[in-house]
Amino acid sequence: MQLIKLDAIDSTNSFLREMIYNGMVTDYTVVVTKHQTNGRGQMGTVWNSEQGKNLMFSMFKDLSIHDVEFPFYISMAMSLAILKTLKTLNIPYLSIKWPNDILSEDKKVCGILIENVIKNRLNSTIIGVGLNVNQTRFIDLPKASSLKNITGIHYDLDEILHSIVANARMYSKLLQQGYYDKVKKEYEANLFRIDKPSTFENAKGELFSGFIKGVTKYGKLMVHLEDRMVKKFDLKEITLRY
Ligand code: BTN
Repeated sequence: MQLIKLDAIDSTNSFLREMIYNGMVTDYTVVVTKHQTNGRGQMGTVWNSEQGKNLMFSMFKDLSIHDVEFPFYISMAMSLAILKTLKTLNIPYLSIKWPNDILSEDKKVCGILIENVIKNRLNSTIIGVGLNVNQTRFIDLPKASSLKNITGIHYDLDEILHSIVANARMYSKLLQQGYYDKVKKEYEANLFRIDKPSTFENAKGELFSGFIKGVTKYGKLMVHLEDRMVKKFDLKEITLRY
């Protein structure tokens, strides 16, 4: 694996994108840093992290060998790869909050930012991971936590990184071999609040109830509504209240 370690950078996702445009990457190139000055989260949010305490990295994945019609499978594969690593560390009550937050009980410990790249009509993707490892204080973030907060253990960041990348290769291989359903089923089996009565908020701020039933191959969330209809939602249309 090509591993680039940086003391500080604006965002590992942005740095990796530059590398891709300069033709400097191979499949599974990883950029990891101790500090980001402009860490980015999903839907235009900011990703903050105390210097040196957490894992922040971006991985390059060449999609030309995959069925790129369904990029959400890459997102599922990465969520499962992280979940597998955290399971081996005995982190309790793990689940994936759609689309790709990793929770322990109801606290977020990891976020993933996937950005697609199209260069010379060949698709590839940047998978950015922010995993809260040894940070113990999260000011104004009541739903965030870290591995250390949960177990009391101080972790080696490098070991966790290598484990996640190895698991990501394993899940990508499954996709390459055509095991799409297997990956989707495993993802759904680990979905936060699957088949449980839940409250959601729509884009207008209105609340409604339903049961999460799974995801479509395009990554939409399937919710069984009270009128018995199953409706599909994309990220901008629905927020789970928990
Ligand atoms: C989220 O909002 O949950 C996604 C957070 C993703 C953060 C990671 S940290 C490494 C990589 N570089 C970034 O700028 N963002 C991702």
